[in-house]
Amino acid sequence: MHMETSIVDVVIGMQYGDEGKGKIANQMAASGEYDYVVRFNGGGNAGHTIYLNGEKIVTHLVPCGILHGIPSIIGNGCVINTQKLFDELEYLKGFGFDTSILKIAENAHIITQEHIDEDSKDTTIGTTRTGNGPCYKDKVGRTGLRAKDVPELEPHLIDMYTYIHGQSKKFLAEGAQGYWLDVDFGDYPYVTSSNTGVGALLNNGFNYNQIRNVIGVIKCYSTYVGAKGYQKYDERFEQLREVGQEYGATTGRPRQIDWLDLDEVNVACKMNGVDFLYINKMDVLRQVDSSWNLYEDQTVVSCKDENTFMNRIGKYLDPSIDIEFQGQLH
Ligand code: IMP
Ligand code: MG
Repeated sequence: MHMETSIVDVVIGMQYGDEGKGKIANQMAASGEYDYVVRFNGGGNAGHTIYLNGEKIVTHLVPCGILHGIPSIIGNGCVINTQKLFDELEYLKGFGFDTSILKIAENAHIITQEHIDEDSKDTTIGTTRTGNGPCYKDKVGRTGLRAKDVPELEPHLIDMYTYIHGQSKKFLAEGAQGYWLDVDFGDYPYVTSSNTGVGALLNNGFNYNQIRNVIGVIKCYSTYVGAKGYQKYDERFEQLREVGQEYGATTGRPRQIDWLDLDEVNVACKMNGVDFLYINKMDVLRQVDSSWNLYEDQTVVSCKDENTFMNRIGKYLDPSIDIEFQGQLH
């Protein structure tokens, strides 16, 4: 097939991060369909857990394409801790992956020790203390350091225009965090310092005509990590945390838990133009007795069984969205 332009499929979290984007992006990368995998926002604050050939692999900054031999790009919307990046590349080399195929946008920003020191003083937001916010602050303040200013990164550097528009390739874009942590649309100030939705992808050099599929990812319950009080008291949330292993991949902090919020998911789907929605961890929710609960209009609705729960979700969201449940009974 002759393609006149590059195209991109994008995977985005529709909640507060930790929806299982890593798993979905990894499945998609494994299809062999993509020439490149690209990250377009965030940095080492993210934690993507992937199980590959029985091994648990946790990445923070490196796109999942590296695990499949697919050249992968850390886009200009990302922020990079150079030392952490090299540590992660060593870790991945230890599994036998070829990390020389990693590309880095020359205009991505660099996290410095000062950024980490400043972030470590945070007590109000509950950040990951990785220097993420202070780095973006310097970027927007026009006082930042960029990848092209760091000689050690030289062998990896690219410019996004040449990669996206100088050839006709298929890209898989892997989002970080989730829509409700978006700096503009999330619950400010309890947000991350980047845009996390489809707009962030466009700011990495893709134009809107190139976006083919937008893939939203959620869990069948909600989790949030950070300083605001989010979890209400319910014994079942404690059970969900243990069964679902709801602890931060980057910081190990316990995630606060609540039922699935369909209004949040609906807004996130609309704002991002979601075509496909993956709903993860049905197997986890099933293990916690009579928990087929969800919110509609800020009111808890108790569904009598798993099927009712699934139907209810399908009816609430835009009917054009293709929904796939993961961890379902077969
Ligand atoms: P920061 O991104 O480190 O500045 O943290 C800001 C907020 O976003 C905090 O509530 C973090 O817990 C949250 N956050 C950042 N990255 C992730 C992620 O990958 N998953 C879940 N929460 C995240
Ligand atoms: Mg589309």
